[in-house]
Amino acid sequence: MKTVVAITGCSGVVYGVRLVEVLKGDKVLIISETGKRILEEETDSNFARLEGLVNAAYEDCDLFAPASSGSQFFDAMVIIPCSQSTLAKIATGIADTLTTRVAAVALKERRRLIIVPRETPLNAIMLENELKLSRLGVTVLPASPAFYHSPEKIEDLVDFIIGKVLDQIGQPNNLFKRWNQNDR
Ligand SMILES: Cc1cc2nc3c(=O)[nH]c(=O)nc-3n(C[C@H](O)[C@H](O)[C@H](O)COP(=O)(O)O)c2cc1C
Repeated sequence: MKTVVAITGCSGVVYGVRLVEVLKGDKVLIISETGKRILEEETDSNFARLEGLVNAAYEDCDLFAPASSGSQFFDAMVIIPCSQSTLAKIATGIADTLTTRVAAVALKERRRLIIVPRETPLNAIMLENELKLSRLGVTVLPASPAFYHSPEKIEDLVDFIIGKVLDQIGQPNNLFKRWNQNDR
């Protein structure tokens, strides 16, 4: 299984880091300039470390990267976290960065596309863009962790979202305790 993971300029880049850490199979990473800066501000990680965890890593401005072409196969793309700017571009067909171009490829080739937006509150433009993508078959999976699994630390909240993403791409995982009424 080959997955493209894109990290954009959002608070919550830790979600992208964790996905890259636990994802199995071939991994291609794309990171935007703002994503890279927030990565260094919000986490102990950096681009060089992430490069070591994937098969290939590209800057978001590198439109010559292989994944840019529909002829290069990948099974799924996850944009995590996804800025509302990148989400809006995808919803309107703008493909002027590697992330938005690969997302456009995923849409035209009908491949799995999972978008993890991190913004709150949402204005009507954002809501309409998310609805539009959802209607196109995109999984819009907001970074809004649940609390029914009794999280004890931030990592538990992050792993809840990552477990949900892995569920979407069919990778078995035990990253969060699933709801079971019999436990109560
Ligand atoms: C520190 C910081 C945090 C940000 N957090 C968010 C966020 O949580 N969600 C969002 O949609 N945009 C956020 N932004 C705004 C985006 O980074 C901005 O719209 C940028 O153009 C996105 O570009 P990119 O998607 O190519 O990375 C943030 C910007 C900065 C500098």
